[in-house]
Amino acid sequence: MIDNKKNNKLNRSQKKALNVLKSKNNIFLTGDPGVGKTYLINLFIDELKKSNCNVLVTASTGIAALNLGGITMHKAFSIPIPAYGHPIKTSSYTFLQYVDVVIIEEISLCRNDAFSYMCNCIKMAEKKFNKKIQLIIIGDFYQLPPVVKQSEYNKMRTYGYDLSGYAFTSIEWKTMKFKIIALHEVIRQSDVEFINNLNKLKVSNKTCIKYFNKKVQPNKEFYPENAVCLCSTNVAANAINKEKLDSIDSEQFIYLAEKTGNISTDIPNDEVVVLKNGAKIIFLNNDNEHNNYYNGMLGTVKECKKDGAIIETEQGKLIKVEPYIWNIYTYKSRNGIIKKEIVGTFKQMPVRLAYAITIHKSQGKTFEKIILDPKAFADGQLYVALSRLKSIDGLYLTEEINAEYLKTNKKVKDFYENYSYTVSEAQTKKQKDYNKKLNAPKKKSKERSKPNNKSKTKSKLYLYKSKVKNKRK
Ligand SMILES: Nc1ncnc2c1ncn2[C@@H]1O[C@H](COP(=O)(O)OP(=O)(O)OP(=O)(O)O)[C@@H](O)[C@H]1O
Ligand SMILES: [Mg+2]
Repeated sequence: MIDNKKNNKLNRSQKKALNVLKSKNNIFLTGDPGVGKTYLINLFIDELKKSNCNVLVTASTGIAALNLGGITMHKAFSIPIPAYGHPIKTSSYTFLQYVDVVIIEEISLCRNDAFSYMCNCIKMAEKKFNKKIQLIIIGDFYQLPPVVKQSEYNKMRTYGYDLSGYAFTSIEWKTMKFKIIALHEVIRQSDVEFINNLNKLKVSNKTCIKYFNKKVQPNKEFYPENAVCLCSTNVAANAINKEKLDSIDSEQFIYLAEKTGNISTDIPNDEVVVLKNGAKIIFLNNDNEHNNYYNGMLGTVKECKKDGAIIETEQGKLIKVEPYIWNIYTYKSRNGIIKKEIVGTFKQMPVRLAYAITIHKSQGKTFEKIILDPKAFADGQLYVALSRLKSIDGLYLTEEINAEYLKTNKKVKDFYENYSYTVSEAQTKKQKDYNKKLNAPKKKSKERSKPNNKSKTKSKLYLYKSKVKNKRK
């Protein structure tokens, strides 16, 4: 059972939602930014772990995966990029024999072709191993959408995938028969006027612009030291970080990562981290040993040292932070037993410069103060940025918000009317034809005929309980 102290902290709707999560149905947990979706799912994962349940914790992005202590869904299911047009690899679902619950965080950023691939993996495993796997997806489609490049439009059309990329536009969405949990009580913000205007922004109601534009402050001198710049692009964020670091008049320290083993992909931080005394940083993981810092916490470098740095945390506490050793795992299935193996290690300072991050990377986070260039170009982008804040007092807009920066996808609006989306007949046929091909018994798969037989080593997963097959009680 979940520990009571934590359970008491849930608000009423979260408590109700927790009971529905336990129902073993497939669930779509949704609600506006800051209603406590991630907080709740973290608690649920704790509970599953305690009850010896095999839970596969994944997210559509690396950052969201880190927040939950999981891995990306692409890595977990070995999903090809792009996912369309690929048959399901045996190694993408055999490991599910030992999985009872699959969790996918930040579903709005998960593309329909990847979503279909993952659902088909679950269906194939359920059939093969004659078991039920609970799929829980979490997210808010009013926030940022998946990336669909224009160069992929033709292929997406060929396979019957909607060009919006939203997971709910795939035929698998219906077949998974999700029960909906929608949380309504916003916890991140408490100011009703702020919440009301965020709700208007969500649906691109222009009457909110005046409210937010009261916070325009073009004069950099007024920006608080501890505010994070939220940028629409990586280029803009990197440029600000570099400019800020260069402007600090102190010696620079270069921290080079030490790597062991075979860890070419999925490294948790940059191989070269440059810091200076006075630099603003963000922590990338939790300090499980001393609880001094946690993922997403901000701090300031006080003194760079050879073996680490003294950092002042947001709360004003001075802590010594040393390079962190991340174990890089793979999970291999041999004769019905799943074994977790370390394939290598990555040692680096667990921090990154925090003057600026992209709005994309900010999704899921909570900030006290932000400096925001409001020139958003994607659906939900401005909404994500502004909804990171706890209070409107923490907002510094570099310029006025224009009506054209407000963008809400019509398909999302329609979907939330009654939590359903009608896939066109033509798209349904194309997707079904494609699925038939995927599920058709293979005579001799390409995968097996590869000379290096890579498929043997591909059963990767992230399980909290993995050695023995545990049925949920
Ligand atoms: N029951 C609770 N008690 C105390 N704090 C809570 C509770 N639920 C959520 N919070 C806090 O409220 C804030 C928002 O919660 P959380 O990040 O889980 O929301 P979310 O719905 O996942 O938002 P987003 O859609 O932006 O990811 C966080 O700071 C979180 O720690
Ligand atoms: Mg969240």
